[in-house]
Amino acid sequence: MTAQIISGRDIASEIKEELTQEIAALKAKHNLVPGLATVLVGENPASQIYVGQKEKTSQALGIYSERHDLPADTNEAELLALVDKLNKDPKIHGILVQLPLPEHINSTKVLYLIDPGKDVDAFHPVNVGKLMIGEPDFLPCTPHGIYQLLIRSGVNIKGAEVVVVGASNIVGRPVAALLSLEKEGFGGTVTLCHILTKDISVHTKRADILIVAVGKPKLVTADMVKNGVVVIDVGTNRIGKTAEGKDILVGDVDFEAVKEKAKAITPVPGGVGPMTIAMLMMNTVKAAKLAAGLA
Ligand code: GUN
Repeated sequence: MTAQIISGRDIASEIKEELTQEIAALKAKHNLVPGLATVLVGENPASQIYVGQKEKTSQALGIYSERHDLPADTNEAELLALVDKLNKDPKIHGILVQLPLPEHINSTKVLYLIDPGKDVDAFHPVNVGKLMIGEPDFLPCTPHGIYQLLIRSGVNIKGAEVVVVGASNIVGRPVAALLSLEKEGFGGTVTLCHILTKDISVHTKRADILIVAVGKPKLVTADMVKNGVVVIDVGTNRIGKTAEGKDILVGDVDFEAVKEKAKAITPVPGGVGPMTIAMLMMNTVKAAKLAAGLA
């Protein structure tokens, strides 16, 4: 079997096209322009790239975008004051504070100050809790991106054995909560593997849908999956540089070997990565609609 390659680039483009039309209609009918503020503290090169992509994408879609670049020695009080100001700014519907923050800043304190109605990352405990009880306003971006990849590729989740490897607060735990919702379109039977799991292969071999988000190249090899599995590889590991000085990226799954057994698989790069930004844009539009009483 040779797998269907699930293109996150194509699916993200499709979603961004839909959003561009929705944003134009909001402007035309309601004079509403969704606004996103990104906040970056310090000069982490990967974070600079991510924030740049978020800013560029929001502008391309017609979202009002505001970027706040703060020096690495910004203190916690200054950052909290900025979040407070953005919470009160009616032009801003979504606030994204890029992680990781410098060590001297308490990230939890910052994330908890973001108005849950503007929390387009869905990291605030109110939004985490709403997902847990099946009543989310915002879905966290990477889990939602994974869900969209599955449904837009025609993968059935209801009743499927879903195995998630990696139990982070950003990906593993929320995607497990999302795919196990007892609602139409969801309904997976989810197993969540983590660092204390005795033998992950016992679980991965049972998976109809396997989601891997650990950060270890070739953690999942062909002998660990069954024929016909659908694989979503969230890993983004930099394993070196090309002759031109570009990062070489690989996922957590041995792509070449596993694609011979899988029904469908996401590549790295070009799989989950492009979806995360598209979902951030979707959340920003949703936040604007909720604020205007249109959602
Ligand atoms: N750093 C890495 N991924 C993310 C993300 O999804 N949101 C934020 N705010 N920071 C990140």
